[in-house]
Amino acid sequence: MTIDIDHFRARRARVLDAIAARGGGVAIQPTAPEVLRNRDSEFPYRHDSYFYYLTGFPEPEAVVVLLALGARRESILFCRAKHEEREIWDGYRYGPELARGVFGFDAAHPIEHIDEELPKFLADAPALFYGIGSIPRFDEQVQRWLGAVRALARTGVAAPGALHDLHVILDEMRLVKDDAEIATMRRAASISARAHVRALRACRPGAREYELEAELLHEFRRQGATGPAYTSIVAAGRNACVLHYRAGDAELNDGELCLIDAACELDGYATDLTRTFPVSGRFSGPQRAVYDLVLAAQAAAIERVRPGNSFHAPHEAAVRVLTQGLIDLGLLAGSVDGAIESGAYRQFYMHRTSHWLGMDVHDAGDYREPGAAVDDKGERPWRRLAPGMTLTIEPGLYIRPAPNVPEPLEHIGVRIEDDVLVTPTGREVLTHEAPKRPDDIEALMRG
Ligand code: GLY
Ligand code: MN
Ligand code: MN
Repeated sequence: MTIDIDHFRARRARVLDAIAARGGGVAIQPTAPEVLRNRDSEFPYRHDSYFYYLTGFPEPEAVVVLLALGARRESILFCRAKHEEREIWDGYRYGPELARGVFGFDAAHPIEHIDEELPKFLADAPALFYGIGSIPRFDEQVQRWLGAVRALARTGVAAPGALHDLHVILDEMRLVKDDAEIATMRRAASISARAHVRALRACRPGAREYELEAELLHEFRRQGATGPAYTSIVAAGRNACVLHYRAGDAELNDGELCLIDAACELDGYATDLTRTFPVSGRFSGPQRAVYDLVLAAQAAAIERVRPGNSFHAPHEAAVRVLTQGLIDLGLLAGSVDGAIESGAYRQFYMHRTSHWLGMDVHDAGDYREPGAAVDDKGERPWRRLAPGMTLTIEPGLYIRPAPNVPEPLEHIGVRIEDDVLVTPTGREVLTHEAPKRPDDIEALMRG
């Protein structure tokens, strides 16, 4: 990975401006703690997304502090000191001196000094900007620093009089991706698409779900991705109707569909990709009917992704196409408007069509217009899409046995999910390399 200091510096500068615009203060953002799996074994380390967004610094035990106090603008890193013995066991550490230059900070200190330094920054600062409740153990540390400043009251020093949620500022920024983020997300999407192609090629009746999962993981790592962005779903047959199914040991049977919802994380950015295909390489008639319907709903939803449209518009489009199709298939009765109004379609489509995507698979960002007045239902209007926003488009149908379900349609579960960037003129489907037209899927599986 290349460290592009300028992007991280520019983001810190924007946050400093936002703090200054709110009267100035001190912002604190720690990275994520390491998490024990059992005894002394840790889960693979994953940085905190907010911290990484501001720093690009990959090590645990680090905190970034931003000072916007009068004319003073500084960004300061606290990180682990160099430590010969620990580096023999755990690996390289930058240490403050080197980290300051490489990551473009004004100053850097050993993390051991933070209890001493932080109260000095907070003394007489008008406000603290901090995302309380995000890392509870760190909240206690922040309270201690505030307590240390309050204890000095009689010396004439004041603690910050206001607490602002730093994440409100960062969420707005993270919602609109910059060029560096878009470039990373394009590469991540391409790797995820190639992993799906690999799994599709490896699919044969008699294989197990975990074998396809292994193909996905192989391709993620082979292409330099960190690993999966979320727990991979490889769902054979009826397992596709369990929304949060994980890749298990079920056999992939001739005549069934397989649903794969799996994608990689690359340089801190997630992809989210779902494809559904026939295990034998040929869709049956009923499978094809359901698949074509979901694909048409997805096309209608993707078409609604453009600047100025509401976040809700793609979902509305998908629901309308799906509901009409469910009526045509005989699964629902009555009119389209009636089945939408009553929510009858939710028997087969019970999740939403989109979520924001970025550093986190369900990414930061308000889905409603921030600060907008509520309507007569007490709701703020949905967010207007703007260039640089990235969202998934992922309609599906999950047909569990029920009195209104004919037997040939039972247990069919289909979802088709792509990652879509809003562009100035419309949209770009980042995951376009993963085939989804039935003919293309069948041809690939034959080949
Ligand atoms: N893979 C998680 C999701 O589709 O939202
Ligand atoms: Mn998704
Ligand atoms: Mn997904």
